[in-house]
Amino acid sequence: MTAVVTIRRPDDWHLHLRDGTMLSNVLPYTVERFARAIIMPNLVPPVTTAGAARAYRDRILAAMPRGADFTPLMTGYLTDTIEAEEVARGFKSGAWIAMKLYPAGATTNSHAGVTDIRKIDRVLTTMAEIGMPLLVHGEVVDPDVDVFDREAVFLDRILAPLLDRMPTLRVVFEHVTTAEGVEFVINTPHQVGATITAHHLMINRNAIFQGGIRPHMYCLPIAKRERHRLALRRAATSGNPRFFLGTDSAPHRLRDKENACGCAGIFNAPGALELYAEVFDEDNALDALEAFASLNGPAFYRMPPNEQRISLVNSGTRIPAAVAIEEGEAVIPFRAGETLRWRLVAG
Ligand code: DOR
Ligand code: ZN
Repeated sequence: MTAVVTIRRPDDWHLHLRDGTMLSNVLPYTVERFARAIIMPNLVPPVTTAGAARAYRDRILAAMPRGADFTPLMTGYLTDTIEAEEVARGFKSGAWIAMKLYPAGATTNSHAGVTDIRKIDRVLTTMAEIGMPLLVHGEVVDPDVDVFDREAVFLDRILAPLLDRMPTLRVVFEHVTTAEGVEFVINTPHQVGATITAHHLMINRNAIFQGGIRPHMYCLPIAKRERHRLALRRAATSGNPRFFLGTDSAPHRLRDKENACGCAGIFNAPGALELYAEVFDEDNALDALEAFASLNGPAFYRMPPNEQRISLVNSGTRIPAAVAIEEGEAVIPFRAGETLRWRLVAG
């Protein structure tokens, strides 16, 4: 069995860092592993102005461990009323590099999101013109649609018609979870990439109900049937440049998860890269890890890949049982208390 895997330093193309003490306690796990990360804007209140994105980036930089080498790539949050000029100005000035579409009500802190895609036609037209990527939470919010079908229905009802109207728009279909999503991304003639989380490669929907309700396995889009997980694994390990690493690490305080109405989100930053390595190893595809983790994302975002290298050795990473946030508050990571096969070592 391979004992060492050396790849270019990877990036995380979908990450929630939050703010305040949560930010400072979860950030070190990402910084240790990734050179850059796309930072999600669903704060309270959301990041809807270029100024707010700059201020958030400054707070992230201020929370960085000493000596760390990490670049946060900021995004903005689309609302029904955001101005195309603000979006374009922020893009040109470098305040943000992409905009995130949350259908209103689809997930955590999405209530200020977009209620009808046609309301932001002008913004999206501008984004297509300037080459600014649209990052999509691809689920419909129609209560008549089963929660397990919301992604597939989004493709038909929203994304396919949008790309017909705006064929030059560059789209990242975030955290794809279905075989239908994978097929769409592979077959569309348009410029569509997709991130895949480690947890969606590892669990199917049974994990949410194993022996009782498991709030730490609950995220959105929700984990699907086994056939979908297998489709995601084939996509991730295929080398197809449209698929790249995005953890969707989404920390919530323990009491907000273990709750009568628990928040959606899986915190996988501790061990994030090692989780993917485990998946690729299981599928005899470690030679495809670098493309997925370190090359495909930068190519889609039109950035150079990182020059530094990191290595993984198969000697084990222990995932903490809990990560303390502040006095009496903790976050429970994915695979808490377990030992993963691979361990990260510097360059
Ligand atoms: O599970 C999720 N958690 N899905 C999302 O789309 C948002 C995220 C969060 O912010 O907690
Ligand atoms: Zn997310």
